[in-house]
Amino acid sequence: MATSATFVPAQPPRVPDWLPGWRAMTGERLRSVVHGIAEPAFDVWHQPRQFLNMDLHIVNAPDMIGHVLLDNHSNYVRPRQSRQILKPLIGNGLLSAVGEDWRKQRKIVAPTFAPGAVAGMAALMADATRDAMRALPAESARVDMAELATDTTMAIIAKTLFSGDPRLMSHEASAHIGRLIASAAQPRLMRILGLQDFDPSPSMIRARRSRRWLRRTLADLVRERGPSGGADDFFGGFMRALYADLPPSEAEELAVDNAITFYVAGHETTATALSWACYVLAGQPELQEEARAEAVAALGGDIATLADRLPLLRQILDETMRLYPSALQLIREAVADDDMLGVPVRKGELVFVYPWVVHRHRKLWDDPDRFDHNRFAPEKKAALHRFQYIPFGVGPRICVGARFAITEALIVLANWLSARRLALPHGFQPIPYGNITLRPKHGMPLVVSPL
Ligand code: HEM
Repeated sequence: MATSATFVPAQPPRVPDWLPGWRAMTGERLRSVVHGIAEPAFDVWHQPRQFLNMDLHIVNAPDMIGHVLLDNHSNYVRPRQSRQILKPLIGNGLLSAVGEDWRKQRKIVAPTFAPGAVAGMAALMADATRDAMRALPAESARVDMAELATDTTMAIIAKTLFSGDPRLMSHEASAHIGRLIASAAQPRLMRILGLQDFDPSPSMIRARRSRRWLRRTLADLVRERGPSGGADDFFGGFMRALYADLPPSEAEELAVDNAITFYVAGHETTATALSWACYVLAGQPELQEEARAEAVAALGGDIATLADRLPLLRQILDETMRLYPSALQLIREAVADDDMLGVPVRKGELVFVYPWVVHRHRKLWDDPDRFDHNRFAPEKKAALHRFQYIPFGVGPRICVGARFAITEALIVLANWLSARRLALPHGFQPIPYGNITLRPKHGMPLVVSPL
């Protein structure tokens, strides 16, 4: 019998009404996408906005989301501004490429993330999870679960996709990525204007150094492996396909771009989802016990199908990603005029879809801010509008690693729950902080106890 939920988890303050465009870019709002959102945003289907002479559309209606991201996706591309921001770190890798460049790369990686291939990685995921758990204290103690989540998902991506290259599991690597993410607290305005490379603040100087370290380290890895791909793993296969298709210098550059793309995009978002899952489990001790019982029973069977034997934990994860979607915004630029289901969109205008808002929209969800994993019971999940729940995006650019991420998150959570109890420290409230991904602002320090 599933526990009924009354838990209303933490969220940042909202403001009663829309602010003028420039005010939406001041104070904490400048740093965090989810801070100070206007209440009416959670009621409207579409809201036109203006910012720095740009016309924007905020879109919440599932049909319009489907129109932009799927039905008429060829008219809506990743905007130049986003690509400019991503370029210094991930060049023309899968996440930032457009058109034919994108299609070619997506075709190469798709088989790696097919259901059978992901199930084949489950044992490596479980090994990496248990290795990282050695860092947990044997006694009851406060542990930053966000940090453990990052160490775990970093080790998983290194082991499953890069044959466990030690450079990708080092503390140095995790410190550099931490600095890059911390630099996201840098005013978004500088990034939107494409001026981040001229920002003289200490955090940006550190971030640029970390970016250089990452590119250099992954370029070394690519060069050492060479055109043969070096190993019979995901990345080796990817490199061979690139070198078979492109001149060597181009293949090498694209290999580096994608090594960084998969290394960073492949662990940070899942780590974030795991941190929030720990929080909602710690906040609901009874539900945690039920999930633990399920996990303990499921861990006894075949690891390749473990994720299929965790239906309650899957509902909890789905509901966690509804309330705390790791990826904050899906942004597209119209390449030609369009009729977006009754709303005229002109060439060059930007369309913003915020999963945080769509997932808490009052016309789409009953009591939207309350945690209720039963929303994702199979029959209820089947009745949802196809585009009202979009943690992994929609359409051809949907997250290529979605199945990998869900399998991984379930395996990690099942192992954690079967060994430790999670509780909220007295008076603790995490702060959702939305820049790049939806991290908890000061980590997720929970009381973690042996069973
Ligand atoms: C909970 C975990 C994750 C979440 C919430 C997430 C979310 C997303 C979203 C929303 C997009 C689409 C962005 C857009 O349309 O603008 C995306 C794209 C992408 N994700 Fe994920 N992701 C997760 C895990 C992963 C993992 C584990 C990998 C790799 C192993 C990965 C690799 C990528 C890549 C390469 C793209 C670009 C796909 C393309 O443009 O063709 N992600 N992700």
